[in-house]
Amino acid sequence: MRTHRLRLAGVVAAVLVAVTAPTAQAGHRDPTLADLAQRHGRYFGSATDNPELVDEPYKAVLGSEFDQITPGNGMKWYATEPQQGVFDFTKGDEIVDFARAHHQKVRGHTLVWHSQLPGWLTGKEWTADELRAVLKNHIQTEVRHYRGKVFAWDVVNEAFNEDGTWRDTVFYRTLGPGYIADALRWARQADPKVKLYLNDYNIETVGAKSDAYYALAKELKAQGVPLDGIGLQAHLALQYGYPTSLEENLRRFAKLGLDTALTEVDIRMILPATEEKLAQQAQWYADLTDACLAVRRCVGITVWDYTDKYSWIPAFFEGQGAALPWDEQLLPKPAYFAIRDALR
Ligand code: G3I
Repeated sequence: MRTHRLRLAGVVAAVLVAVTAPTAQAGHRDPTLADLAQRHGRYFGSATDNPELVDEPYKAVLGSEFDQITPGNGMKWYATEPQQGVFDFTKGDEIVDFARAHHQKVRGHTLVWHSQLPGWLTGKEWTADELRAVLKNHIQTEVRHYRGKVFAWDVVNEAFNEDGTWRDTVFYRTLGPGYIADALRWARQADPKVKLYLNDYNIETVGAKSDAYYALAKELKAQGVPLDGIGLQAHLALQYGYPTSLEENLRRFAKLGLDTALTEVDIRMILPATEEKLAQQAQWYADLTDACLAVRRCVGITVWDYTDKYSWIPAFFEGQGAALPWDEQLLPKPAYFAIRDALR
């Protein structure tokens, strides 16, 4: 079935590009990914970043094809509290303003992460009491600022190692594992309505790392800690195989009473991109869309930017790329049509 759908998508792709490309004329507009996802009660989103918001053709697709936006960097600690106690929400606000102008909802990303921290925080030894106060103030000031403007927060990002042990971060080292529950409670105090998530990569399959989240989530729920969802980043790579237990994994978190979301999807490949690799990538995008649609509490899918023009991959993984559903010229790839097909 899927093969047939993909073949068909391939055959008509060229025609569709001409007729239904995301820049199609008003009045002849095909449903967007967002329209199609909404029919299932889901959203379909994209990350974006402030430097990109001067690119008009890019903005045209960003503003029309998606109903959800995640700031790729603008709400991170280094951007929002560059000096201790001095907050700067300019970058996040710019993205929230764009989203509001295009009737899109915003996922807040991210409050507590070991990466992209400001120098004043990393350059000093903190006592537990000091760091607790710093963390609480950061979380609550940012969550209060975006109250009513973001519908979900990645409260803690990437807390575990691949083997399911705690990642050795400044927060874990200084405060112990209880920093997670504290962070969630502080965020809840600052916004009683926003959905609170833990978010990580390589937790798409059932395995040591996702088991760690499962155990933690179960414990937090039992303790009455406000946790609403688990974000599975889904930075996949063709050379490492498809996470076949994705649906089962989404389902077990749902059974704990949690939402899930695919929060940072991209599917990279070793370059050059061949027709065959692009077809396989399209299949994977369709499969992960199917997996989310199959589990009621999988609330939506976000690609980690939508075009290869602005993907983080080539800068981080030498010789890899072509990870997103639109190419560097902003033209939809087979993956785009496969996602559409899966959402229909
Ligand atoms: O802002 C500086 C700029 O002043 C400087 O000239 C330039 C030179 O390298 O660097 C700029 O900072 C870059 C920053 O993005 C903003 O563009 C950093 O080098 C670069 O490392 C940073 O990359 C970001 C990465 O997180 C950092 O780990 C990516 O854009 C961002 O997409 C990526 O997002 C993460 C998620 O938050 C969590 N999950 C993984 C995902 C991919 O790494």
